[in-house]
Amino acid sequence: MKAIIVTDQAAGIAGMKLVERPEPNGEGANYGDVVVQVYASGFTGDELSWPSTWIDRLGRDRTPSIPGHELAGVVTALSYGTTGLSVGQRVFGLTDWTRDGTLAEYVAVEARNLAPLPGDVDFTAGAALVMPGLTAWQGLFEHGRLRAGQSVLVHGAAGVVGSMAVQLAREAGAYVIGTGRADGRQTALDFGAQEFVDLENDVLEDAGGVDLVFDVLGGDIAKRSAGLIRAGGTLVTITGPTDVRPADGLTVDFVVMPDRTQLSGIVQRLREGRLRTHIGAISTLDDAVATFNSTRRVKGKTIIRVRP
Ligand SMILES: NC(=O)c1ccc[n+]([C@@H]2O[C@H](COP(=O)([O-])OP(=O)(O)OC[C@H]3O[C@@H](n4cnc5c(N)ncnc54)[C@H](OP(=O)(O)O)[C@@H]3O)[C@@H](O)[C@H]2O)c1
Repeated sequence: MKAIIVTDQAAGIAGMKLVERPEPNGEGANYGDVVVQVYASGFTGDELSWPSTWIDRLGRDRTPSIPGHELAGVVTALSYGTTGLSVGQRVFGLTDWTRDGTLAEYVAVEARNLAPLPGDVDFTAGAALVMPGLTAWQGLFEHGRLRAGQSVLVHGAAGVVGSMAVQLAREAGAYVIGTGRADGRQTALDFGAQEFVDLENDVLEDAGGVDLVFDVLGGDIAKRSAGLIRAGGTLVTITGPTDVRPADGLTVDFVVMPDRTQLSGIVQRLREGRLRTHIGAISTLDDAVATFNSTRRVKGKTIIRVRP
């Protein structure tokens, strides 16, 4: 099968190569796995800096590694212990960080990491929902415990994760303030933010007290945001561990987890027109290396359409 591999951490994205690799079948698939023919794949820009791209769960070198952990596709084989999915079923989901991923024609993935993809949802849209949908859902509702009537400040609201967080928070009945660069204002408002703070020209501190900050930027912005949080509120960040704490509240840093029930809820919202994806570019597996290495800045998610 065709797959993109990386072997050299120092080379970064420039070290990606399109090669022929053996298809995962009985041998590449473990207990509880299915093999999926990948139709659409997503890759996160900073994946190549994650240790899990280079080592397995026992800390052993696992290169050459296939990156990309978001997928939509069709199940082609089931291994022992697989429950809930069948051969021929359309699925979407998130693959294990420490195993070969989805920039390939086939991938072995634990069935429990996948959800059924309804027949009326395109594979490209399915793949584009996975990472932002799960991250926004878990950040807002599991870690941030957001409820109707509360207020949330979403950083990077015109971005991939931020735009999803804005939509889900609005739908849940929260008051949503988005932030970002000046040119992100209209996008954030179009996704449903009720106010927008231009971090380059406005004063963040003027945003006033909020119950939750959903941070995708980290650094000084996360630090200053802690001061905006009301007593009992939460700073949720997806940028890594931080010492920053609201004066009378919690800070939660997390990494997104696969979740079948959440994926099913998210895709249902898409079908009902209650949320939309933020896709910036669609490329093919043959062109993926060039697409990722392009100096042109794409706003929104890049999806690799592996199979037409
Ligand atoms: N922990 C987890 O589980 C998890 C899951 C998913 C993503 N992530 C991480 O979350 C981060 C965001 O991901 P994403 O896919 O949403 O990225 P993205 O689409 O690039 O979104 C970031 C948004 O913030 C804006 N922005 C960036 N720096 C800014 C600054 N200094 N001031 C104002 N606005 C700024 C960007 O504007 P421009 O487009 O103009 O730069 C963009 O609108 C990434 O670092 C990603 O790796 C973590």
